[in-house]
Amino acid sequence: MRPKAELHLHIEGTLEPELVVDLARRNRIELPAFDVEAVRARNDFADLRSFLDVYYDNLAVLRTEEDFHDLAAAYLRRAAAQGVRHAEIFFDPQAHTSRGVPLEAVFGGLSAALRDGEVPAALILCFLRDRGAEEAERTLRAALPFREHFIGVGLDSAEVGYPPSLFRRVFDIAAAEGLHRVAHAGEEGGPDYVWEALDVLGVERVDHGIRAMEDPQLVARLREERIPLTVCPLSNVRLRVVPSLRDHILPAMLDEGLVVTVNSDDPAYFGGYVEDNYEALRRELGMTGEQLDRIARNSFAAAFAYDPRHGGGA
Ligand code: ADE
Ligand code: ZN
Repeated sequence: MRPKAELHLHIEGTLEPELVVDLARRNRIELPAFDVEAVRARNDFADLRSFLDVYYDNLAVLRTEEDFHDLAAAYLRRAAAQGVRHAEIFFDPQAHTSRGVPLEAVFGGLSAALRDGEVPAALILCFLRDRGAEEAERTLRAALPFREHFIGVGLDSAEVGYPPSLFRRVFDIAAAEGLHRVAHAGEEGGPDYVWEALDVLGVERVDHGIRAMEDPQLVARLREERIPLTVCPLSNVRLRVVPSLRDHILPAMLDEGLVVTVNSDDPAYFGGYVEDNYEALRRELGMTGEQLDRIARNSFAAAFAYDPRHGGGA
């Protein structure tokens, strides 16, 4: 299995149905049914919004520092088995603080799991764009006492209607704190969202970015500045951003000379972890070993915090 870095992974998106049921029991939280198959049965999505509804519902079972620890520890074990040598992991603090979970529990649990995990990893704090810019700014300020626990900020959740430019101020504050900046753009939103993420937010990587391919000038910009794109093929199929893997534009992105990486996004929901994404590209799209090796090399080059002395590597 080829060594790789994973750069687009929501830790909340690794909440497997089995863990939903276990944590619900541990925390005495009522589920409609304490049944793994009933939880899994909801994983059929029409679009990003319908996925997010299920994703946020399931988070009700995450309450304590131990829960966050167990979630991240389980991911890191799976990541190691998938050939991941370095991970930069998104988390959504507002999805927890809005339910009354203290930031201390989120940072405490995730950081302890990362410290003890077998894959070197770092955290990227994401703002939920559909909760607006003011709450994003309050969230960043509340997180700054935990500054040593995260390396960057990102922007996720429902994309269309929440353009990157709304978040200029909070990204400026993050930049002044020396934090890396990324944003989901060009998943359901058009190329204009990718332009804004670059020009207004100053992002160093674009998450998804597949709709950038609709704009040749934008493709030229991404190529010339070697801006990495964290593409998530199985996610795109499950969220019906592309009709099927065979129609995925990823090989064309690679042919354009873009710095493409392959990632799993929310593997508990989309039918596979990162190696499963690589394998699906080989099987369904006929991508060659040489192409997949290039993608794996890109993943290390695109990482913010990869240290080849600790992470093994390409
Ligand atoms: N949050 C978790 N997964 C996401 C995705 N694919 N797009 C936007 N927000 C998300
Ligand atoms: Zn994502």
